[in-house]
Amino acid sequence: MKSLNFAVIGGGFMGKAHSIALASFAMYAWPAPAMLNRELIVEANDQLAEESQVRFGYNRKSTSWMEAVEDPTIDVIDVLLPNSMHYDVVLAAVAAGKHVICEKPLALDSITARAMADAAEKAGVVNQVGFNWRLTPAVQLAKKLISEGAIGEIREFRGKWLGEFFNDPSVPLVWRFKKDQAGSGALGDIGSHVIDFAHFLVGDIEEVLAIQHTYVDKRPLLSGSGMGDVDVDDSTSFMLKFNSGATGYIDASWSAPGHKSDAGFEIRGSEGAISFTWERMSELQYYSGKDSSDRQGFRTILVGPPHPYGDLFWPVPGYQISYSDTKVIQLFDFAQAVTGQIARPQTTFRDGLKSTLVEEAVIASAKSNTWTSVESADAKRGK
Ligand SMILES: NC(=O)c1ccc[n+]([C@@H]2O[C@H](COP(=O)([O-])OP(=O)(O)OC[C@H]3O[C@@H](n4cnc5c(N)ncnc54)[C@H](O)[C@@H]3O)[C@@H](O)[C@H]2O)c1
Repeated sequence: MKSLNFAVIGGGFMGKAHSIALASFAMYAWPAPAMLNRELIVEANDQLAEESQVRFGYNRKSTSWMEAVEDPTIDVIDVLLPNSMHYDVVLAAVAAGKHVICEKPLALDSITARAMADAAEKAGVVNQVGFNWRLTPAVQLAKKLISEGAIGEIREFRGKWLGEFFNDPSVPLVWRFKKDQAGSGALGDIGSHVIDFAHFLVGDIEEVLAIQHTYVDKRPLLSGSGMGDVDVDDSTSFMLKFNSGATGYIDASWSAPGHKSDAGFEIRGSEGAISFTWERMSELQYYSGKDSSDRQGFRTILVGPPHPYGDLFWPVPGYQISYSDTKVIQLFDFAQAVTGQIARPQTTFRDGLKSTLVEEAVIASAKSNTWTSVESADAKRGK
């Protein structure tokens, strides 16, 4: 069986998620497309590298991502760094002929996102962006139902990613609150997953009309003394028009009291509707207008082996999918592409670029207070 040596770059939140998924991969995905080895972990300094190696179970550690890229025994570079660092690592990895996974948002802007997608495609390496949320079995089932016409013609998309984790002004000024390191705030960090839901389930977005807010504009510096400026959005909401003629609305906020990880959508069609929230990620709500009138109502489908990717987990429906399970699915998709079982992963750098183009249009629209076309946001940058 093929074996792939992973170098994981960054041992933070996503370092944990990807490491759990790598460790449990073949226990779930069996027969595995390939064995995925936790070969090398790279962190910012010796102490973090040491801790990450011990905690996440890697054979080796390093403080140099370039060392990982240049290492001939490494097959895959898995980029789990703050957003501003994705570009350099991905470009170097692709130039070295490595297969690459990169977390979302792919890049700070569409120029760099496009360069990353172009470079990976030219090099012929497998490239995947971390839009794992769409790979959730319930979301994949939603796609299947829509494709089969189960809710008729799609009319409206209502998407959201609502949490309250940064409503607390005492949360320090980490990279996520700085435009030069993150690109944007709630929009790119969490809204990008909803934009991806919209692309995946409904289609390409043509125009947006947006409003953005920053509610906490100063946060304690990480050094422990003084305050620093936040220059990204805490909340972004926008209306959108799809190429298909369907319309939509997306609400992304990390300052939404009462919500934890309320990421999802309601999709309304001519003959039914589908509703999903990540807070109940093993469930899909489906309403069919074709049910007889005395029993109409949303029905709850609990995902399991009959559903897309559901058979990777437990033999019994309703055993619940969890966050790191979606990373197992992401790795399964990636490993299948590397071993030629599928042409490419479902979520490539092109999907990362598409989302970045929408994010740019949203930011431009919020500034100009006008409907802004997604293409013109691209054209403005001279492409
Ligand atoms: N797909 C998802 O559901 C999801 C969820 C959260 C974050 N993300 C994305 O994952 C990426 C990482 O986010 P995170 O939440 O893990 O951030 P984090 O801050 O928790 O982790 C980043 C890690 O990178 C390390 N690092 C910094 N400089 C480094 C260097 N030069 N070499 C090696 N390591 C270095 C830091 O020490 C830190 O441990 C971001 O792009 C983020 O948007 C995706």
